[in-house]
Amino acid sequence: MKKILVTGASGFIGSHLVELLLRNGFNVKAFIRYNSRNNWGFIEDINLKNEIEIFTGDIRDYDSVYKALKGCSSVFHLAALIGIPYSYISPKSYIETNINGTYNILQVANQLDMEQILITSTSEVYGTAKYVPIDENHPLNPQSPYSATKIASDQLSMSFYYSFSLPIKIVRPFNNYGPRQSSRAVIPSIITQLLLGKKEIKIGNITPTRDFTFVEDTCNAFLEIYKSEKLFGEIVNVGTGKEISIEKLFYKIISLLKKNKEDFSLLTDMQRVRKYGSEVERLLCDNSKLLKNTNWKQCYNLDDGLKKTIEWISNNITIYKDIYNV
Ligand SMILES: NC(=O)c1ccc[n+]([C@@H]2O[C@H](COP(=O)([O-])OP(=O)(O)OC[C@H]3O[C@@H](n4cnc5c(N)ncnc54)[C@H](O)[C@@H]3O)[C@@H](O)[C@H]2O)c1
Repeated sequence: MKKILVTGASGFIGSHLVELLLRNGFNVKAFIRYNSRNNWGFIEDINLKNEIEIFTGDIRDYDSVYKALKGCSSVFHLAALIGIPYSYISPKSYIETNINGTYNILQVANQLDMEQILITSTSEVYGTAKYVPIDENHPLNPQSPYSATKIASDQLSMSFYYSFSLPIKIVRPFNNYGPRQSSRAVIPSIITQLLLGKKEIKIGNITPTRDFTFVEDTCNAFLEIYKSEKLFGEIVNVGTGKEISIEKLFYKIISLLKKNKEDFSLLTDMQRVRKYGSEVERLLCDNSKLLKNTNWKQCYNLDDGLKKTIEWISNNITIYKDIYNV
């Protein structure tokens, strides 16, 4: 069986993708950011971890990317810096990881004989919707340095498709949620505060709407896009086609936890509020290209996915505790 490299494998989406690929019989090599503790992040939690080839390196380092890709037929490139607030503080680190990292993948892949290169984009590249639902032709608007580096990474990838016929596909997920997500993201943040017994729940802006996809559905989309013969040189949105405001999401989580909404108040956490002009007010996915060209189906509606997420966070609450000083 041919080998697939997954970068960002120790992270939230990457670890679920590795599990899915293993379950489907693929030979997986996991690219994990080198650290002196030899910590494999969420790969440590995977049942079939003994079947994975682990490669430790740094996506910013051409040599390690070359060594990692050698012997692989395809790559799912997910490694990135993803936090929007930190991209205000250190844009350069996003340029180095998200743009130079993707450049390394493309340039190495162009020297090796590879079958497919799947690049991970994000709905943040669209900025606040100018029309809904957002299809792949929607204009790009970099409302944060994070978004700008993902736009650059996507454009560089397309240029390698046009210039060198590199077999690129760009997967563009809208917001994800599920087990293992960082508590910096809104859903784990709300769930954790509620589970820890807080009555004043701190979150950022509550008016923006998002299209939330359960992480396993997103990983299925990666696999379906990989299987498609038609999507080379194409960008494909991955989302559900439904939106919810952060405020409504908050009350939905309260009701799933069987708590009374009157017992809680929402406080604005200024550290989570995006700077003026940077907030993306509305993201709603047009997923018709994905539906038309693949066999992808959404398996988890928001309630089902949230229940699975709540269950996982309840069982792993110690991972989240420090952030709230409990
Ligand atoms: N989470 C979402 O809602 C969402 C939505 C759209 C797109 N995405 C994209 O999906 C991908 C994965 O995101 P995630 O949510 O799993 O984030 P994550 O932070 O959990 O995972 C990112 C991974 O990249 C790795 N990484 C960072 N810098 C590295 C380096 N220098 N060398 C090697 N590895 C490095 C990290 O170790 C981590 O494993 C990213 O490309 C992100 O832009 C995420």
